[in-house]
Amino acid sequence: MGLDLIVKNGTVVTADDSFQADVGISGERIVAVGQSLAGWGGAAARAIDAAGKLVIPGCVDVHVHLQLPFCGTVSSDDFLSGTRAAARGGVTTIIDYAIQDVDKGLWAGIEKRMQEADGKVCVDYGLHSIVIRWGQAARAEMPKVIARGVPTFKMFMVYEAEGWQSDDAALFGALCETKDNGGRILVHAESERVMSSLIKKYKGQDVGAWGHVLSRPNFVEEEAIGRAVKWAEASGGRLYIVHMSTGGGADIVKQARARGTNVYAETCPQYLLLTDEVFKDRERGHLYATCPQVKKAADSERLWRGLVDGEVCIVSTDTCTFNTKQKAMWNGDFTKMAFGMPGTETMVPAIYTHGVKAGRFDVSHMVRLCATNPARLHGLYPRKGTIAPGSDADLAIIDPNRTKVVDHRELDTNCDWSPYQGMELGGFPDVTVCRGQVVVDGGKFVGKPGYGRFIERNAGTEL
Ligand code: URP
Ligand code: ZN
Ligand code: ZN
Repeated sequence: MGLDLIVKNGTVVTADDSFQADVGISGERIVAVGQSLAGWGGAAARAIDAAGKLVIPGCVDVHVHLQLPFCGTVSSDDFLSGTRAAARGGVTTIIDYAIQDVDKGLWAGIEKRMQEADGKVCVDYGLHSIVIRWGQAARAEMPKVIARGVPTFKMFMVYEAEGWQSDDAALFGALCETKDNGGRILVHAESERVMSSLIKKYKGQDVGAWGHVLSRPNFVEEEAIGRAVKWAEASGGRLYIVHMSTGGGADIVKQARARGTNVYAETCPQYLLLTDEVFKDRERGHLYATCPQVKKAADSERLWRGLVDGEVCIVSTDTCTFNTKQKAMWNGDFTKMAFGMPGTETMVPAIYTHGVKAGRFDVSHMVRLCATNPARLHGLYPRKGTIAPGSDADLAIIDPNRTKVVDHRELDTNCDWSPYQGMELGGFPDVTVCRGQVVVDGGKFVGKPGYGRFIERNAGTEL
């Protein structure tokens, strides 16, 4: 067997190590990693010289909502633009969400989502199942869905108006099932009742986008995380807190993990790089609306510390892109803001710049947070998330010294603004390889729509 592609002279970075090596690729797989690949004939159809560059595993963004009908519109990044953007950002696998079909079941929702994705996706993808009606049918279907490669089930403690909310009994019931069935429950933790009462209080007042901050103080998330953790503890189930935004949440998860609770948490760049000061801007503040909303500098610092210490173990993005026209539908009423922002394309650069270059952790730890931990916990490892013989040939090649000033006009995400506009970030890949195919070259997208594949996942490995 000869090599189809060789990445030469780079610094290969894994979660555990960083070393000079060549990476040999045959077809879709890595077949050799070493100082000299002479045994493979020394030649390949294509060679990429990565001298002076970092060769990291293709990253895995486990929290993405492409073309999601939400907030009276549909998120503007579809499976094509969203996965082009992913490739440009060094992300070679995304995990999106499929909402349960209330009549036909969980798998019917997944099949529908696969039909929307296949033919468009430019990198690989998986799906989480969103449970909006917990009951005997969902309980019975869960093991079949897990066996077919979807072991993760999202439940919302909010979004009553959308009909997506799960109450405590549903959450507890689903967690009970995951004690033994290999599934994991992903939870959007905010307290709907308290939040709604605060929204009512501030609605109609001249608070602008700051109303989003007033109606979602930290305790709205912290109380809900505490409650979800309690149900995980009582049930023995497997819990994962999505898009954690508060320092208090990190404290709760840390304490729970110390007691032996099976709970993990992710956070996103918006909670690490931005603060709620953005909502004070009367013209543009509404663009930054997400659920949960971005918090204070002290929360960001606590979340960074959690990423170092381990109670926050994954960086994802919660990409749910809305352009300025969609965002303008709020029309000055903070209760009508579209929740979400673009993110996958800038995830690795944000963490590379503010994590690695800022001296918070080394590049191996970045790989752990953005590639290896997501792949392990979400059942993709060792196929994804590392650089090793037998793994999919998913790579991002980064010039450690190159930076660029973020400009939404230059990004592939389908959005006419960026939360990081004007920031100087490093870590954008020169080259991205997805399953052996070069999909970004010279920093430009060169892949093909429909190349990406649905990847079946397993129960995952505890971290
Ligand atoms: O603002 C957000 N997060 N939009 C997407 C839906 C969700 O809650 O994840
Ligand atoms: Zn959410
Ligand atoms: Zn989300």
